[in-house]
Amino acid sequence: MRSCLITQTKGGTGKTTLTFALGVEAARAGASVLLLDADDTQRSLTSLIAKRSGDYPAIAEVSSGSVSDALRDADVRAYDVVLIDGPPRASLDVRGLVRQVDFVLLPVGASPLDVEASNIILKHVQGRVSFAYVIARADPRRAVVGHVHGVLAAAYSVGPTIYERSDWVTAAGSGRAPVEWNPNGKAAGEIASLWKYVDAQMRGAAKV
Ligand SMILES: Nc1ncnc2c1ncn2[C@@H]1O[C@H](COP(=O)(O)OP(=O)(O)OP(=O)(O)O)[C@@H](O)[C@H]1O
Ligand SMILES: [Mg+2]
Repeated sequence: MRSCLITQTKGGTGKTTLTFALGVEAARAGASVLLLDADDTQRSLTSLIAKRSGDYPAIAEVSSGSVSDALRDADVRAYDVVLIDGPPRASLDVRGLVRQVDFVLLPVGASPLDVEASNIILKHVQGRVSFAYVIARADPRRAVVGHVHGVLAAAYSVGPTIYERSDWVTAAGSGRAPVEWNPNGKAAGEIASLWKYVDAQMRGAAKV
């Protein structure tokens, strides 16, 4: 089993959207996928999945205190890939969880303030688990995206950027990922690249 926690202290960075779309990518690549909705205040991931007509990826709601148990259960049930959507606050026991997951993905906005705010979560993961930033919801017209990428990449691993694209919002209306809505669109290509990156990181992850 390969596992990834998608988390960030700041809200609205794209955690739920990425967890969902990465899960769809993984399932389309042939993996048996379980998504864990650990955001017990909103359950946005569960709502998104409920709009879908297909039967994948599987999803389970977990309270922030029982993610560890859910991961152990997923291992017993032999899922190939488990992706966890964390809540937008530090209530999740990130410190405890990082010992159980292969990889942590930190979606961050393309803004120096957002990068600074993510230091809160960073101190829980750095030195404990393999992790990477991904700049998400990036405005393709703004030079600051390249600047923030440069700053992050000088110190940390950074996945392929996910840009703000209307395909994301339109597709989500019917519980679909960009590849299921507009397979040749830029959003579909960008999330495919991020999935390749995350999958390679999970496979190659050695506990640090
Ligand atoms: N790449 C994107 N392009 C356009 N819209 C996006 C993109 N990613 C996310 N969104 C939209 O931004 C909003 C916030 O995304 P999402 O809910 O995934 O963030 P979140 O980090 O899970 O938020 P929260 O902290 O509240 O859980 C949603 O309306 C979503 O549809
Ligand atoms: Mg969310």
